[in-house]
Amino acid sequence: MHEFDLDAEAVRQLGYRAAELAAEHRAGLLNRPVFGKVGDAAPSFDEALPEIGQPIEQVLATVRERILSRPFGNSHPRFFAFINATADPLGSVADYLASTMNSNCWGGDHAAIHVERQVLRWLSAIVGLPEESEGILTSGGSMANFTALATARRAMAPGVREDGFAGSEPLVVYVSDEVHNCVDKAVDLLGIGWKQLRKIATDDRYRIRVDLLKQAIAEDRRAGRKPAILVGNAGTVNTGAIDPLDELADLCAAEGLWFHADGAYGAMATISPRLKPLFSGLERADSVAADPHKWLYVPYEAGATLVREPGRMAETFQRPAPYLVHDPDSPVRGPVSFNERGPELSRGFKALKVWMGLKRHGVAGYAAAVEHDVAMARTLADAVTAHEDFELLAPPVLSIVGFRYRPAGRSLDETELDRLNRQIVNRLVGSGAFFLAPTLLKGRTAMRVAIVNFRTREEDVRALVDGAARAGREILGLS
Ligand SMILES: Cc1ncc(COP(=O)(O)O)c(C=O)c1O
Repeated sequence: MHEFDLDAEAVRQLGYRAAELAAEHRAGLLNRPVFGKVGDAAPSFDEALPEIGQPIEQVLATVRERILSRPFGNSHPRFFAFINATADPLGSVADYLASTMNSNCWGGDHAAIHVERQVLRWLSAIVGLPEESEGILTSGGSMANFTALATARRAMAPGVREDGFAGSEPLVVYVSDEVHNCVDKAVDLLGIGWKQLRKIATDDRYRIRVDLLKQAIAEDRRAGRKPAILVGNAGTVNTGAIDPLDELADLCAAEGLWFHADGAYGAMATISPRLKPLFSGLERADSVAADPHKWLYVPYEAGATLVREPGRMAETFQRPAPYLVHDPDSPVRGPVSFNERGPELSRGFKALKVWMGLKRHGVAGYAAAVEHDVAMARTLADAVTAHEDFELLAPPVLSIVGFRYRPAGRSLDETELDRLNRQIVNRLVGSGAFFLAPTLLKGRTAMRVAIVNFRTREEDVRALVDGAARAGREILGLS
């Protein structure tokens, strides 16, 4: 089985070839459309199951031509869509080494488990949770929120694992109307149900209205329901708004609610001492979802669930099985069984890329990179404000800017403006020059730019404003 069981020299040569492809890919990104649309080439991906193998050279050549040439685009300096970060090349190397080890990270006394444990302690320290907090790395923010909310559900309804919700009062979950839809999904999957999900309106800065939140809690109590979990946004996906986390922590303490903070976008920004005060109260959360594949720039995938009180996760996920290590004298037994902190058993070694990134860049390096992104968003907002044909709809709190094209001297109604702004986005993305996505802000279509991209320069954001203005004029037939 020589094609599987490579000797050290063959592994080295294969690695060199992959490294060449990686370097070429990176260097070539700027010469290609930002978004690597497959389009008419789609049929080339419909192949019959290979009955016999090909030489590796041929496989790599196909990867080069057909796959590496069509990326999603988030390593390009002009990628501004969703919250998809540019990845640190060091993270790719870490992933390569991690998959070379191919450690299964459910538990045991091997290095990967200690590295993950260390990473979780570092992440807790970044957001300000106590040292004894526990956690787990997940595939991303959605699973981080799910895992935290499962833990919260068990804490608020201790019999739920045995009994389900049969016969018990319904748990109610409170969020703002700007919450990420992964929380909706979690509330469904955890059997709580959307009828028990209260979406509280936000203020003019897209933060949860605490007065309305208090009213909703009181109303639910009067109706015999059990207010149980409050999800605060530590940076919303839409605008980066940060809910008043300290006030929410106070309310949860007074009302006996589990306080979960969704920091998938924002929590890692607390690595910057300058930005940390914006998140005051995050350190009081019972659980936090964070996403190293956003603001720690590690390649997909890496999210993190952090839980303040040790033992809460095991109460939620522990399920002894005879085929796993339980013998206290076993030489395999390690410091943490991650399969008791989440739904998965077999897990990859995601921690290495986070560990290597923090070792390489330190708090100072990451703080500078995050602050750079925030500064780029500020530059964009200033450029938009200075331009008479644009309207700033969501000034940046962190690194997201919402704005729309609204040409001076033309009276377009809201429907026309919505259509025009969507057309501009499509034209910019279709041209290959930029990648951004539209959103709705208080019912109005906006161009939404999220910069989690250490490659973005001032000239890139200025070019976006110029490009959007040009596209707007062209669509309106003004030039
Ligand atoms: C606030 C917030 N929560 C959750 C998520 C989901 O994270 P992921 O895409 O890593 O699953 C995102 C993603 O952008 C987010 O911004």
